[in-house]
Amino acid sequence: MKDKVLEILKENKDYISGEKISNILNVSRTAVWKNINTLKSEGYEIDSVSRKGYRLISSPDILTYEEISPYLNTDFIGKKILYFNTIDSTNKKAKEIAETSSDGTLVISEEQTSGRGRLGRNWTSPKGKSLLISILLKPKIDPSKVSNITLVGAAALVKALEDFDIQGLIKWPNDIIINDKKIAGILTELSAEINQVNYVVMGIGVNLYTNKEEFPEDIRNKAGSILSETGKTIDRKKFTGKFLNYFEKYYKEYFLGNNFHEIIKISKEKSILLGKEVRVIGRDYSYVAKVLDITSEGHLLVQKEDGAKEEIYSGEVSVRGKNGYI
Ligand code: BTN
Repeated sequence: MKDKVLEILKENKDYISGEKISNILNVSRTAVWKNINTLKSEGYEIDSVSRKGYRLISSPDILTYEEISPYLNTDFIGKKILYFNTIDSTNKKAKEIAETSSDGTLVISEEQTSGRGRLGRNWTSPKGKSLLISILLKPKIDPSKVSNITLVGAAALVKALEDFDIQGLIKWPNDIIINDKKIAGILTELSAEINQVNYVVMGIGVNLYTNKEEFPEDIRNKAGSILSETGKTIDRKKFTGKFLNYFEKYYKEYFLGNNFHEIIKISKEKSILLGKEVRVIGRDYSYVAKVLDITSEGHLLVQKEDGAKEEIYSGEVSVRGKNGYI
């Protein structure tokens, strides 16, 4: 009902009376008034003038369905959005609702109290300054192909940034880098049987407006935000819409159309690792190697110092630049 009132206010550039809204929605004027007050408490600026009615002056910078959907042209991603002001972790929430929620459902929060990163790390971000989003997916694919969803996400992020004239680079498979600073990360989690995926949760954290001092001290020299690295304050809603549109496009190409070309092309063109010396760090080993290629399957092809070539699957390996880039 609140959503319907908002929709009407958005459609009407001029004042619209409470009576008219109550007639359209077939509810009492008190109900309209209550919903207007709820919207105001959420940050919508609504002017009310006696005998003229209500007029929407401005909308808050929040990532609700009502605010993002005007920017979406997707078939199934973002048809349902669970929006939170604060939550422990959007990935955790997405997993909790996975069984009963549909493919493409999003969990978005302004803040996370225990955001999770890869390899058991934390993901911290001050309230309202990031995009913290988890996408629930139910692909009918072999579990072995799931790790490539991260590449799809990374490709979609750099394409969305490009639309704002921002050049992001991909540190295979899950980080987005600007000026050698990590501005976004992806954590893809899977629930599967031996040869069947139950669901996948792809969690993305993008630092949009975070200031240097707001990052925890131990990562301050490695982390950055779009604002800190480019000086640009991009529109969160538009960015989120663009990212989701690209994500669905590439996701469909790969998982429904079996076409991985575009994603691999972007992964290579935007790679910060290709041709570079890296340190590959596994659970109980580490070695120096040169990055030769990203294969057509999305694996990282490296050459060790003894000349031997190795294909790395995204898994539990961490790849670090030898020359400063994260
Ligand atoms: C990484 O680079 O280590 C991955 C970071 C992923 C962070 C995002 S923020 C939204 C979603 N919810 C989480 O708890 N983590 C992911």
